[in-house]
Amino acid sequence: MLAYLLPVIWAYVHPITVHGRYFVDSVTKEPFYIKGVDYQPGGSSGVSESKDPLSDPNECARDVLLFQDLGINTIRVYSINADLNHDVCMSILATAGIYLVLDVNSPLPGHHLNRYEPWVSYNEEYLENVFKVIEQFSYYNNTLGFFAGNEIINDKTSAKNSPVYVKALIKDIKQYIEYNSPRSIPVGYSAADDLQYRISFSDYLECIDTSPAESVDFYGVNSYQWCGEQTFYSSGYNVLVDDYSTYSKPVFFSEYGCNEVVPRAFEEVQALYSTDMIDVFSGGLVYEFTQEPNNYGLVKLEENGDVKLLKDFMSLKSQYDILPEINYRHVANSMKKNAKQIQTRLKTHKFSLPECEPTYNNLDISKGPPKSLAENLIENGVKTSRGKFVPLDNDQLTSTYKILDVNGDAYFADPKIERVIDIMSGKEITRVHHSRGFHNCTYSDLEDSSDESSDYSSFTDESEEPDSIHTLYFKASKFLRHLYKAIADKFSEN
Ligand SMILES: *[C@@H]1O[C@H](CO)[C@@H](O)[C@H](O)[C@H]1NC(C)=O
Ligand SMILES: *[C@@H]1O[C@H](CO)[C@@H](O)[C@H](O)[C@H]1NC(C)=O
Repeated sequence: MLAYLLPVIWAYVHPITVHGRYFVDSVTKEPFYIKGVDYQPGGSSGVSESKDPLSDPNECARDVLLFQDLGINTIRVYSINADLNHDVCMSILATAGIYLVLDVNSPLPGHHLNRYEPWVSYNEEYLENVFKVIEQFSYYNNTLGFFAGNEIINDKTSAKNSPVYVKALIKDIKQYIEYNSPRSIPVGYSAADDLQYRISFSDYLECIDTSPAESVDFYGVNSYQWCGEQTFYSSGYNVLVDDYSTYSKPVFFSEYGCNEVVPRAFEEVQALYSTDMIDVFSGGLVYEFTQEPNNYGLVKLEENGDVKLLKDFMSLKSQYDILPEINYRHVANSMKKNAKQIQTRLKTHKFSLPECEPTYNNLDISKGPPKSLAENLIENGVKTSRGKFVPLDNDQLTSTYKILDVNGDAYFADPKIERVIDIMSGKEITRVHHSRGFHNCTYSDLEDSSDESSDYSSFTDESEEPDSIHTLYFKASKFLRHLYKAIADKFSEN
């Protein structure tokens, strides 16, 4: 009986939202720090007509067991096939308290932008596939965000031809989500470890001419600069923090983990979640879970699907294990400062986001973004199965594959995923601290009654800006269309 009296605040998988430069749990209002790994077994050939990293429930159970053991709260997947079903794998991840950041592109033909000649690949067929990915994954609450692109700008030619296309794509995706998705999901970009383009491109993706939909919601930085024994200063992490200290959106490592010195000690983990970094970086994702030819793996997949843990798995786990609690006082203060900056800017500007400059270093944006080819698709939506959580029995939370430690012995005594959230009844079962993220700091901690202007919860977010006439018109016409269709369907039923 008592159970009915418990507060229901933990009742479901909480979507993550963006407030200023922080990820925030939309229900508890706690800041969310990404602690995760990149996950693409098989590399770019891991996606095909029949298979992708989130399509095989038995393999998902095997790997989620290890995610939970590692103590992570997020994975990034680089490509999926939207024609496959991902309900079981997404339900397993959600049950284990793990979020997904998903790239919308794939190596399959027509499913990615060509970085040198983006105009040949930016077309309706391409956008339709992107929107299918969005349509399907928007319905899983543990989809944290989408990457519109990964390392598209990485040399002179791509920096000349592609920036305006990436900018256009981000706007298309954000508008698709606004008109078609059940909730607002952050859309970001993941940048190559190249100082020539990384900073200027982040500024370009952040800026707006007329609408907040033009601005990226978060920026992923791929960084391999902490190799072997380093410090916050010797690694150059201090410079990174400086570079992004005025960025208006969350920034995190979308890939990290230099492998010039092996086995990797992962000492950068301690720096990443320390007060040196947490007001600018929202955590990061270690590259990468499975061993592939480029030698960044934490585990090795055998031909038969069994898994062997590598030394890197154990050393990453031991770094996570000794990670101290995030310094919440520190985060609370930086969130407050950020809120104040936003409020101050909104007193004199329509939007808190920076306006676009005429030029950005090393990028060619002179032609401006191409005309969007997405309007039809946005207005009508795309057809694909919408993701949904499904009930899981205990068998689905174990795996038939063997999991072996570095010596080849069985790693788990009882290989079973712990249910952190009952996704069907919506009850939170246990609050596994390390796999839900970092807790203990909420917006209410940020409200300081002696100082009204720093009340974080009351600041106006861009997303709450009034719609433009064009947007209102678009929404109204879409609404009417759907209404007519519903009425027509009703009549044809009778
Ligand atoms: C998903 O999140 C929404 C709030 O945005 C909530 O109302 C809903 O119950 C959640 N669904 C699940 C299955 O967790
Ligand atoms: C955070 O919360 C957990 C339980 O919710 C508690 O055990 C822990 O001591 C708290 N940590 C801090 C730093 O307040």
